[in-house]
Amino acid sequence: MNMKAISFAGALTLATVALADNSAAPPPLPLGLSPQLYKLTVPQPPTPAQVTLGEKLFNEKRLSADNSVSCATCHDPAKAFADGKPQAVGIKNQVGQRNSPTVLNALFLATQFWDGRAATLEDQAKLPILNPIEMGMPSPEAVVTKVRAIPEYRDAFQKLNGREPSYDDIASAIAAFERTRMAGNARFDRFLTGNSNALSAQEKRGWALFNGKGRCNSCHAGNAVSPLFSDQKFHNIGVAAHKQDFVQLASEALRVVRAGDEEQIDRLALESKFSELGRFLVTRHENDIGSFKTPTLRNVGVTGPYMHDGSMATLWDVVDHYNKGGITNPYLDGGMQRLGLTEPEIDDLVAFLFALTSEDFAALEKKELTAQRARKTKRPERDTAVALGKKGNLGDLAPNPDLKNPADLGLYGPVAAPEK
Ligand code: HEC
Ligand code: HEC
Repeated sequence: MNMKAISFAGALTLATVALADNSAAPPPLPLGLSPQLYKLTVPQPPTPAQVTLGEKLFNEKRLSADNSVSCATCHDPAKAFADGKPQAVGIKNQVGQRNSPTVLNALFLATQFWDGRAATLEDQAKLPILNPIEMGMPSPEAVVTKVRAIPEYRDAFQKLNGREPSYDDIASAIAAFERTRMAGNARFDRFLTGNSNALSAQEKRGWALFNGKGRCNSCHAGNAVSPLFSDQKFHNIGVAAHKQDFVQLASEALRVVRAGDEEQIDRLALESKFSELGRFLVTRHENDIGSFKTPTLRNVGVTGPYMHDGSMATLWDVVDHYNKGGITNPYLDGGMQRLGLTEPEIDDLVAFLFALTSEDFAALEKKELTAQRARKTKRPERDTAVALGKKGNLGDLAPNPDLKNPADLGLYGPVAAPEK
């Protein structure tokens, strides 16, 4: 089956529809992303003029208070739109609490940010510009004044909208550019569309583990209708659990979080200890404590370090974390269980994750794989005895204890003897 031909035909049909709508034709889609999904997500493809202006603004350091940081500083096109740092670094070298995710395929996300606090790309783009530790502009008005004073932008916006730019116009242009940044075309996509040689034997074993013993697909399912390898939901997988007393922190947060205040949550998430509460800051629901959005796994081999806080350096660390069932805490997702993966199986799973790299980043992939392999002897997350069910505070021997039951964790005081 020739998927290229199919998506090309799909794109042609779309183009016809789009032209009738008097908007631009959709950009060419990489292998693995369906025209149907694109059409659902972007009913009106952005025009080339919007995209060109948006790209310029994405790379524009003058959008920051001291002209030193642009969106691309933390979402570098050469690094698959991430930055390779554990946590993002903004103006005056200020370090935030969270890791910069890739912007590739962000157009397909149901919500933006690790905690989903922004609903659209437009809403999202307005926040980093104003965040004091990212781009640090004092107000939307200050951004507008600065942009209007730059003749090239003034002219471009005039031509595009027939008026001087507002803060919304700036955000729309950036979002238009982001809607053209897609990732697909990985070895895995060639495999899935019929080239059985596109994956090595090891990568194929990894794919089987991903869907089988590793249980990764329960949150990161990847297929034609879910090309991002994310369920787009929020889970506590026990990344932050070892650093914080969640219960204490949550009750403190409840006293300070104002409902529906996006900008306050943005600051708390990036600058304070409350960051670790994750989705809870947005919903204030107890069962969202420590929950973060399931990230896409496309290009994951080249967008480390990993997790919302960049606390894991390699994909081996990530798999070690899952293998022991995450870090036990009262809000741990029920889907987190010990896996009992052996060392060769861990290698297979990691090999598969690297096969999700888009062809454009093949050189970067090689470099990252070498760097991560070199760290394989340093495995801070590894706990083989726990992973294999030979040790644990539950006194169990099976690799998959039911961690869902809070009573088992002693959360509500000493565990009462079961009624006879
Ligand atoms: C100082 C570094 C930094 C700068 C500058 C920055 N970002 Fe980000 N970006 C981040 C971090 C860190 C996150 C995750 C924060 C969170 O989830 O709480 C993020 C999240 C995002 C997301 C959400 C992706 C997802 O998977 O949910 C998008 C989209 C994005 N940024 C686009 C932009 C745009 C557009 C700009 C410029 C207007 C920008 N960023 C400027 C660091 C940065
Ligand atoms: C219960 C749902 C769930 C399961 C099961 C799950 N994940 Fe995740 N995964 C997540 C969430 C949520 C995050 C982000 C957590 C955070 O940052 O606190 C994540 C993060 C990751 C990351 C880091 C990506 C990045 O860009 O930082 C990788 C890699 C990953 N998972 C791979 C896997 C693999 C491999 C498996 C199977 C062994 C797996 N996941 C099983 C939900 C899940």
